[in-house]
Amino acid sequence: MSDPIVYLNGEFMPLADAKVPVLDRGFIFGDGIYEVIPAYGKRLFRLDEHLDRLNNSLDATRIPNPYPESEWKKILSQIVMKNDAEDQSIYLQVTRGVAKRDHAFPEKITPTVFMMSNPLVVTSQEMFDKGIAVITLDDIRWQYCNIKAITLLPNILLRQTAIDEGAQEAILVRGGEVTEGSASNIFIVIDGVIKTPPKSSRLLPGVTRDLIVELAKNNGIQCIEANFSRTELEAADEIWMSSSMKEVMPIVKLNDEIVGDGKPGTITRQMYQIFQDYKAELKRDLD
Ligand code: PDD
Repeated sequence: MSDPIVYLNGEFMPLADAKVPVLDRGFIFGDGIYEVIPAYGKRLFRLDEHLDRLNNSLDATRIPNPYPESEWKKILSQIVMKNDAEDQSIYLQVTRGVAKRDHAFPEKITPTVFMMSNPLVVTSQEMFDKGIAVITLDDIRWQYCNIKAITLLPNILLRQTAIDEGAQEAILVRGGEVTEGSASNIFIVIDGVIKTPPKSSRLLPGVTRDLIVELAKNNGIQCIEANFSRTELEAADEIWMSSSMKEVMPIVKLNDEIVGDGKPGTITRQMYQIFQDYKAELKRDLD
């Protein structure tokens, strides 16, 4: 495979040529924000929603938005077209920029903008049927989890703890209530009703999460946005996680317990299918 084409500060180039000064505040402080946007059949999925969240992250961190919306859209579609895969995952990062190390915001600084594309391996039927195992862990993160900050050390440590214990994801619990996964949002089903925690500063407002809530409502499946405890999680009939990378991924094992009968549940299957149909419909509409 040829070297992927990336974008750095106004230019497209092969990945190997993309270089950032070591004094970039992203490198020194983790002072930056990011987005991960899927593209199916070379079409960016839920782009407006991702750009809205990008805007919110920039506002919250007081990093000036380097481009108007039209420019973001232009660069993003160019990077998709310059890379080969039909389905791609676009990683976009904005840091405050390069300056002498000092915690306070430097004056007259230009944000660093980087984007790269990776082939997107969507959740196949086989991966879906298998599901994943998760463990619960204390949510050790900060108070602004709604910001998609590149400062991901807590998330990395939490994910690695899950991996070390033979699971694939960690479900985080703060003050007795489930917040989200280390890189995903969490849904449970009890007596046929879907529940996911409401949006707050304790979790990232997942674009996939919002779409699932919308699709459930449009398809007459009861879905409520409400907090739930670890005990409720343990008693759930079905659990799944969502993200732009994994879409709808069933959770079949929680800590040492099998969830339901150890296979993706009825509503999880239904939501996965509705999600796939939505993608297919979007593709047809745009063709
Ligand atoms: N992560 N919560 C957290 C903490 C996340 O990092 C993510 C996504 C999500 C799901 O958001 P969305 O549906 O918009 O992808 C929830 C990305 C994929 C990542 O860090 O790679």
